[in-house]
Amino acid sequence: MSTHSPNRRMTAPRIAARKGGEPIVALTAYHAHTARLADPHVDLLLVGDSVGMVLYGHGSTLPVTLEMMIVHGRVVASAVKHALVVVDMPFGSYEESPQQAFRNAARIMKETGCGAVKLEGGVRMAETIRFLVERGIPVMAHIGLTPQSVNALGGFFVQGRKQAQWAAIEKDAKAVAEAGAFCVVIEAVAEPLARRITEQVPIPTIGIGASPACDGQILVMEDMLGLNPRPPKFVKTYADLAGAIEKAIATYADEVRSRTFPDEDHVYGLD
Ligand code: KIV
Repeated sequence: MSTHSPNRRMTAPRIAARKGGEPIVALTAYHAHTARLADPHVDLLLVGDSVGMVLYGHGSTLPVTLEMMIVHGRVVASAVKHALVVVDMPFGSYEESPQQAFRNAARIMKETGCGAVKLEGGVRMAETIRFLVERGIPVMAHIGLTPQSVNALGGFFVQGRKQAQWAAIEKDAKAVAEAGAFCVVIEAVAEPLARRITEQVPIPTIGIGASPACDGQILVMEDMLGLNPRPPKFVKTYADLAGAIEKAIATYADEVRSRTFPDEDHVYGLD
């Protein structure tokens, strides 16, 4: 089991310095208990707006609000001692103008104690990324499949499967790097394109469904723990928590119904 220098706090500059070096290990986290368990093993925990789909059961990330991100961001940041905590800016909280983005990013930073924010978009968000970075807010960019644009994209599709699509995605990667993002998530992108981008940009690329050619990997924690009955194809499951939880609850229910729980070890007696 890997536990790597968990005493040294990760920061956005320390993640940026890992370009081309030791792969960056990242996961999503939405609650204190899972964040605490993951913290000694990962470099970065993302409080992703995927919380809307994973915990709240929405069909997309669009209904997620700033207030939801702040609540989940605060519990994760307060549970973590080592990893860099990044909080997603939800749909509608940053696209209007750099000023709107700054106002909401500053709120997220103040009210959660996180170390950076993430927002979706390449060339179109470069000016906003620059505006935030110049004002002291580290920004993780997100290109390729950008789930907040699901309605414009027509679905959650792999990007860059055709070589004709590569130029635009490469332009996005270069634009966010030039604007000052400290790293960039590349989601659902064909392997040769992920490799090319990783070779071309000076900031770490963190892939999700984008192959090990990237400088690091991120997965949704519930997917890799086996809590999603239909995980995306690229997800390897490392545990069957759904099975373990169901089995434990069924055993508990049987024991309560048969009055075998509580047994004498779990009952208070007299002094
Ligand atoms: O919201 C999220 O969890 C994300 C990851 C999938 C990168 O953006």
